Amino acid sequence: MGCRVAVLVSGSGSNLQSILDAEHAGKLGGATVKVVIANKADVYGLERARKAGVRTEHVSVRTEGSPEGVAERMLALFAEEQIELIVLAGYLKLIDTGVVRKFHRRIINIHPALLPKFGGKGMYGMKVHRAVLAAGEKESGPSVHFVDELFDHGPVIAQRRVPVLADDTPEALQARVLAVEHQLLPETIRALAEGKIPLG
Ligand code: GRF
Repeated sequence: MGCRVAVLVSGSGSNLQSILDAEHAGKLGGATVKVVIANKADVYGLERARKAGVRTEHVSVRTEGSPEGVAERMLALFAEEQIELIVLAGYLKLIDTGVVRKFHRRIINIHPALLPKFGGKGMYGMKVHRAVLAAGEKESGPSVHFVDELFDHGPVIAQRRVPVLADDTPEALQARVLAVEHQLLPETIRALAEGKIPLG
């Protein structure tokens, strides 16, 4: 019957694209993206969803009036679409505690470093890669983890390593990590949809 997925984005949505492409290619373990939600109206991630014929929603404090309103609207959308798995793919807002509890071990996030290192509040985008280089790390790579009430904090379920090169710039490292994110996230969703990693 497949696993019904919501994807949350705040930006360009290249990870969302990798999920949509995997679904289209029959490589998502029968999982299907039912709705893409963004906290901003004009992000390219929503455009990618529209092009793929997927329902899009803009849900933010601006549209809903309060953080509680955001949580209520999300829960209503998840109920309406009978969502079983929520994927944060470059979503920069903290998920409401009530939503996290209701979807225990059913929300995953991708982070562009080897958690538990280089995660937490404010650690996003190029800041992560700059910190990895500044620390003199020899390896980096994306992590997928279950989401709890803290930024980048819940149990890690998948990681992949890439080398950090001697002459790396943050941009070069980001590109190397992002290319691997685009494999790791769809593969992890597939493993969840196929029951190889147990969902909550
Ligand atoms: C990725 O690096 C992801 O790991 C992080 O945010 C970025 C999103 O990129 N959480 P995109 O919007 O999927 O292109």
